[in-house]
Amino acid sequence: MKYVLNSQEMKCCDNYTIEKVGLPSMVLMERAALAVVREALSCGCDLKRVLVVCGTGNNGGDGMAVARLLYEKGIPVDVYLAGEEEKCSAQAAAQLGILRAIGLEPVSKMPSSEYTMIVDAIFGIGLTREVTGDYAQCIRMVNESEAFVLSVDVPSGINADDGRIMGVAVKADVTVTFAYEKIGLLLYPGAGYAGRVSVQDIGINCRGLETPPPVYTYGKEDLERLPERPAYSNKGSFGKVLLVAGAANMAGAAYLSAKAAYRMGAGLVRIYTGETNRHILQNLIPEAVLTTYKEEEASLEALKESLKWADVAAIGPGLGKSFTALRVLEYVLKNAQIPLIIDADGLNLLAGHPEWLKEHKQQVIITPHLGEMSRLTGKEISDISSDLLHTAAEFARENELTCVLKDARTVVATPDQRIYINRTGNNGMATGGSGDVLTGVITGLIAQHMPVEEAAAFGVFLHGRAGDAAAKRCGMYGLMAHDLVDSISEILKPQ
Ligand code: ACO
Repeated sequence: MKYVLNSQEMKCCDNYTIEKVGLPSMVLMERAALAVVREALSCGCDLKRVLVVCGTGNNGGDGMAVARLLYEKGIPVDVYLAGEEEKCSAQAAAQLGILRAIGLEPVSKMPSSEYTMIVDAIFGIGLTREVTGDYAQCIRMVNESEAFVLSVDVPSGINADDGRIMGVAVKADVTVTFAYEKIGLLLYPGAGYAGRVSVQDIGINCRGLETPPPVYTYGKEDLERLPERPAYSNKGSFGKVLLVAGAANMAGAAYLSAKAAYRMGAGLVRIYTGETNRHILQNLIPEAVLTTYKEEEASLEALKESLKWADVAAIGPGLGKSFTALRVLEYVLKNAQIPLIIDADGLNLLAGHPEWLKEHKQQVIITPHLGEMSRLTGKEISDISSDLLHTAAEFARENELTCVLKDARTVVATPDQRIYINRTGNNGMATGGSGDVLTGVITGLIAQHMPVEEAAAFGVFLHGRAGDAAAKRCGMYGLMAHDLVDSISEILKPQ
């Protein structure tokens, strides 16, 4: 697990390192610059001629140190100072003095010569407002050039806290960031501007933070979180999943969730579904136990018994929006004594009865995409997508549940305001049934005793990895939801 910081938290860490640990800011700058130069030398770009564009803050100071180090290596380098010299921070002014002392005078106009690399050090985490005037012009010129662009800390113009473009932003090929990833580098549109992100340790100490940062992400090393499978076990040891899923013509959703739950390792999966699905599901997934209901009137007795049997339930995939489906949802929310995942039509039905959420007695996970979240909250989709973190966090807090808000970068917010940002997955997964697979994966993890909130975040991570494995096999265009299910076993194999 890795923390992802906002600009305020990063400033606290910087200040703690400088003031409490006693590492001078010029030492940190030198280390930052050395890390950037290492990346510049190893990224495969021909350093025939380099332009370093610097702002007047400390990000600009980092850039000037980069220019000096490249110059000392004999690499032809120009420096352009965007902004007035008098406005330079103390450290940037000191770096400018050093540049002049070694004979590297900044050029007075943003040059239009042909550079093979441009180092963008205009703004880092200190960006506080829209970029306008000469700064904006300078960023446009960087973007128009054919050079390889390397951004220092954050692409200039990207808000480090939420990934917003503040008017205009540098489109980088690589961003070298320090100590921790920043939220704005993970969330879109910032993620699309950062290029490859290289996180470099430069000795910044994060003990200055009063509490651990709330935002985190998972990487490959987190695969070790997979629930253990003891040798002395039976199918009961790995949990019983109930899926309330699949109205007429929607058997596929129930099938995908059920198969994903089994592939994730659940011991037993039961599907409570419409009677017309019986033969289809029996053929598709004979391993599942079926309890069917008449679509004109569901048997709540059978549902009651199924809920008693299960360790975890999910409701919604392909459920439909009929009156029967509504009654089933109400019954589940008001009576289930087990963790519950609400997805798809479960969420669409819930949008008309949000008060039912408060009636569930155990932990709840909801897994809306932007449209479903819009129906649940009454907010515009564009407002949700530009404020993913806060929308998910607010809904999770107010309703005391875990909210898996699905987008290109899915975020998972818990009632106690921990936020996971997912980095796995690809656009091939934007296909029908992908969400049903995620529901199955999360239920499979909870069935195997993973804590509910962790299962939500880890399930999203695994689902994305399965998507990446599937894309390697079938490409992004032709990827279908059942390819994701097939890839679950592949990514769970011991590496
Ligand atoms: N238009 C014009 N100017 C703007 C805009 C805008 N849209 N937005 C912000 N600014 C100005 C700010 O007002 C500020 O100027 P001011 O100091 O005169 O008020 C300046 O841009 C700040 O920009 P940054 O350089 O991004 O911010 P900061 O000076 O905080 O440095 C930092 C950021 C620490 C360098 C970080 O991005 C980084 O690269 N860290 C790497 C590690 C490092 O070098 N750490 C030690 C540095 S020294 C120290 O922290 C004291």
